[in-house]
Amino acid sequence: MKILVVGTGAREHAIVHALASEETAHELHAAPGNPGMSAQAALHPVDANDGRAVAALARTLGVDLVVVGPEAPLVAGVADAVREAGIPVFGPSAEAARLEGSKAFAKDVMAAANVPTAMAHVCTTVEQVADALDAFGAPYVVKDDGLAAGKGVVVTSDRDAALAHAREALQARGDDGTVVVEEYLDGPEVSLFCLCDGATVVPMVPAQDFKRVGDDDAGPNTGGMGAYTPLDWAPSGLVAEVVDRIAQPTVDEMARRGTPFSGVLYVGLALTSRGTRVVEFNARFGDPEIQAVLARLRTPLSGVLLAAATGRLDGIEPLRWSDDAVVNVVVASQGYPESPRKGDPITGIADAEALDDVHVLHAGTAVVDGALVSAGGRVLSVVGRGADLAAARAASYAGVEKIALDGSHHRSDIALKAERGEVAVP
Ligand code: AMP
Ligand code: GLY
Repeated sequence: MKILVVGTGAREHAIVHALASEETAHELHAAPGNPGMSAQAALHPVDANDGRAVAALARTLGVDLVVVGPEAPLVAGVADAVREAGIPVFGPSAEAARLEGSKAFAKDVMAAANVPTAMAHVCTTVEQVADALDAFGAPYVVKDDGLAAGKGVVVTSDRDAALAHAREALQARGDDGTVVVEEYLDGPEVSLFCLCDGATVVPMVPAQDFKRVGDDDAGPNTGGMGAYTPLDWAPSGLVAEVVDRIAQPTVDEMARRGTPFSGVLYVGLALTSRGTRVVEFNARFGDPEIQAVLARLRTPLSGVLLAAATGRLDGIEPLRWSDDAVVNVVVASQGYPESPRKGDPITGIADAEALDDVHVLHAGTAVVDGALVSAGGRVLSVVGRGADLAAARAASYAGVEKIALDGSHHRSDIALKAERGEVAVP
């Protein structure tokens, strides 16, 4: 097939890498892509958020499938533009992507579909926020109601900090600002990616993400500092429960509203003392989790994405998975997440990839004067695999050791608690 992947991150590089690793050769294109993909895909300097430009490129190339990676183009209607051009596209319409783009909308759909989630108050004034904080008590959870790349959420026991975040979020959007104040969910988090074609739901395997910047979950939230799969500690019925009680009812409710959801429904869960709860929905694969999940997928990805894009998921064979464990460690630039420094030279990727069971995916990288340099907060994903989490961790961290990027940082405890058997549902 001829396939165009839209986006610039390690998630999109992971998709390109998986497509390029299939037995059947494909002609791969990326818009705009990143330097890491250039060995496997032709790069096209097109703005990922410009639906007309992406559709025009897809038509010119004559692709069979467009895969939209990140949330911003989805919310901007890039999948709609491609679909209107008559080209199969993996990714929801702008209307359906509101499941991610608006937390208040997602809460409304969840209520209608009877999906278990945190109780929440949607607030438009600081006074309402203060009342909601006091109603739920500490720890406080305050969410900016809009796309914030995983960074719009504050979880804190400091009431003043919670109020300050709410005030900032309300002011940033002028008179239209809304924030969502939620009940705190205890228990470990799980990401489950559910492939959807508007009607049928096909779950992938669960993974766990590490959102805080520092070891032991210290410091602010980030886009995600690492991930692993499988989750040996998770209850065995989890995936079936999430499909039956969460993903399928949500997909049915979206269809009932006339805005069918196709693409991937990212179900972010907390396994709490009171049961499984949705923390958030996203309308695309999670980064850094998908880098780990795709490394275990044995079924050719291209056929699965095309089936989702063309409403044929009910006809596919069950997905096949490797029993290996996979750990993805993110190498971030100095100052991430507050103020990432750019332009530092990156070396050692080839040495990392020369190790057994290691591959490196690019995120914030650029080529300047022929040299690879950092160009964003999350710079690389170092993916290691092994027979168990200990082996996968060893592979991934051996890869990280080979990489030199001045001022960079990474977490040293990705999958460590799981390896030690220290993760449990309360
Ligand atoms: P979100 O953007 O909604 O995914 O939130 C980002 C992160 O904030 C989540 O992955 C959780 O770690 C944390 N979080 C969000 N909502 C809650 C909640 N109700 N209780 C506890 N932690 C939460
Ligand atoms: N892994 C978190 C996210 O993609 O939002």
